[in-house]
Amino acid sequence: MPSFAIDASRLLARLHRLGDTGRTDGALTRLAASDADRAGRDLVCGWMREAGLGVEIDRVGNLFGIWHAGDPAADPVLIGSHIDTVINAGIYDGCYGVLAGLSVIEALQEAGFTPARPIALAAFTNEEGVRYAPDMLGSLVHAGGLAVEAALAAIGTDGTTLGGELARIGYAGPRTPGFLRPHAYVELHIEQGPVLDAERLPLGAVETLQGISWHRITIDGIANHAGTTPMAMRRDAGHAAARVVTYLRDRLAGSNAPTVATVGCMVFEPNAINVIPARATFTIDLRDPDETRLQTEEAALADFLVTLAAAERVSIASERLARFEPVIFDPAIVAAIEHAAAQRGLRTRRMTSGAGHDAQMMARICPAAMIFVPSIDGISHNPREHTAASDLEAGANVLLDVIATLALEPDDFWWNHQKSESGDQTKSESGMPSQSEGIPL
Ligand code: GLV
Ligand code: MN
Ligand code: MN
Repeated sequence: MPSFAIDASRLLARLHRLGDTGRTDGALTRLAASDADRAGRDLVCGWMREAGLGVEIDRVGNLFGIWHAGDPAADPVLIGSHIDTVINAGIYDGCYGVLAGLSVIEALQEAGFTPARPIALAAFTNEEGVRYAPDMLGSLVHAGGLAVEAALAAIGTDGTTLGGELARIGYAGPRTPGFLRPHAYVELHIEQGPVLDAERLPLGAVETLQGISWHRITIDGIANHAGTTPMAMRRDAGHAAARVVTYLRDRLAGSNAPTVATVGCMVFEPNAINVIPARATFTIDLRDPDETRLQTEEAALADFLVTLAAAERVSIASERLARFEPVIFDPAIVAAIEHAAAQRGLRTRRMTSGAGHDAQMMARICPAAMIFVPSIDGISHNPREHTAASDLEAGANVLLDVIATLALEPDDFWWNHQKSESGDQTKSESGMPSQSEGIPL
């Protein structure tokens, strides 16, 4: 394989340009299907077209840039990630994978590389799940795990529907989700955690991704006067919610398991200084690399909520927002990543992804894996998110080598390969998210 290289200065310039798109008062918040997202999409579509890619948009707004090279009848190798962000985000999460993917295609084109099959780039809708649940929504629909109509009907935190907002911003495309069947999928991403930075390693070959369980909990108590109601006589939804937060922290901090839990949103009603909260609504994000342990924690939480409701004389309802089982990535692609890194003299380690990624959805329909680069101090979902330029470049070059290898494979490669080498491979079937199902109380 000849040695190619991406254009690092073009990649960095685009990362900063996209990172400056959708800023308000200095903060980058490019929520899915917002005006800011439209501006980011316009920019990325423009760059895709400049690279000669055929731009396709599906009904849930997933963007594809397709390099129609090689055998037009062959399934494309797909590179992907997302360009929607969290609130007050950094510039690398998702955007790095999309823009590095574009750099890879451009480098191959500029080097005169002839792939055996098309190479495509995806920017999936609503990966973050901040505005619409579930997270990884666009790739989930692409993989057939959520019906298009259900996805378009998803109601956002601001009361909008995803379908309405995609139409409003001009990104409700005509293609049927899943129209592009990938030969393989590779996603390059910042680690968003501290491991590579702490171990001074430039790259991670991601072999597994932990399970994710999201719920919205609603606690109903009784509003009453803050000055006149004795402490023992309150039915305080706010206090009950606080007890859930400390329950999760105490239980998991006292355990050796890697389970993590976060209460990231909480709203009290009526939200007044001198009124005992009548209602508390909050979210729980619970994750574990082991499905059995994740189920154990979900059951323990459900038991705690029942006990809490009786003790605090409140009612508690739970709604499931997302549920995905842990994923095992394709061992052959993980090995190809390690091989490509070694060829470039880069040290790697195998790792589990703590964050959710579109790759976990794509693993349902094709061989998939991920490459991580270090996040300085493990900071992410924060404007301080940062990765050294040299690491960004190294990760993109390893992606380049892996994609070039995959793009030369014949159609029967995976079938023959999986039969002969990975008999023990188990692709985990992720649980379907359901808007109605909650923690059984
Ligand atoms: C996505 O960033 C997630 O893991 O929540
Ligand atoms: Mn991401
Ligand atoms: Mn993210």
